[in-house]
Amino acid sequence: MFRRKGIAGKNKEIGWFSVKNEAGVYMVDLFDGKAADWDSGDMKQKLSKAIGAAIVNQVPLKAGMQVMDFGAGTGLVCSYIAPHVAKIAAVDISPSMLGKLAEKPELQGKVDIICQDILAQPLKDSFDLIISAMAMHHVEDTDKLIHSFANHLRVGGSIALADLDHEDGTFHPADIEGVYHDGFERHILKAKFKNAGFSDVQFKTAITILKDGKAFPVFLLVATKG
Ligand SMILES: C[S@@+](CC[C@H](N)C(=O)[O-])C[C@H]1O[C@@H](n2cnc3c(N)ncnc32)[C@H](O)[C@@H]1O
Repeated sequence: MFRRKGIAGKNKEIGWFSVKNEAGVYMVDLFDGKAADWDSGDMKQKLSKAIGAAIVNQVPLKAGMQVMDFGAGTGLVCSYIAPHVAKIAAVDISPSMLGKLAEKPELQGKVDIICQDILAQPLKDSFDLIISAMAMHHVEDTDKLIHSFANHLRVGGSIALADLDHEDGTFHPADIEGVYHDGFERHILKAKFKNAGFSDVQFKTAITILKDGKAFPVFLLVATKG
């Protein structure tokens, strides 16, 4: 079920369920037109499979773990992690993407669906592990996001975060809304995670996406809080 608490709520102009940002303004669901066909994209399937496998290989998952998937979308990566852990809080600001996640039989009883901007209103829960796939480049303030990750983790908890390595700006269409970063430089991210209280910050290449004759590597960052 959707968690309908906090600042998320009903809004006549935008939809039956939408989310307020830090300024108290309802945000448009930028993935509304993409959610229906998201899972049928071959690249999305390959990407989530590779990221799911990289997380399973790099993080010692345990049956009792409480996990947050930040920017969970339709739950493609959740589906690879859910069988190994107790519960996943699927956090996203897109009602349409979470709506597709909510329909998946394999995730019933394994996910709490939370449509909320956790940068504006943090969750009260803390987690053993945060996972995130291809969501960080959609958040303008990277430092704030990384500190929010730290605040949502128990001491000794881990983060496993996948996103694009720094690219030339051609991965997304030029006119796309809501993309704030052309990937990330690994050494800069490492410094930011250390500054937010993470240790043992490691990178692996989870997959390299080939698109229009160009190679776009996707990293998996793994780090521990404290
Ligand atoms: C490229 S999609 C990736 C979805 C999913 N992780 C996957 O791998 O298929 C990015 C997701 O991040 C979500 N997102 C963007 N900004 C967010 C924010 N501030 N808080 C939570 N989710 C956000 C979007 O709504 C979208 O579902």
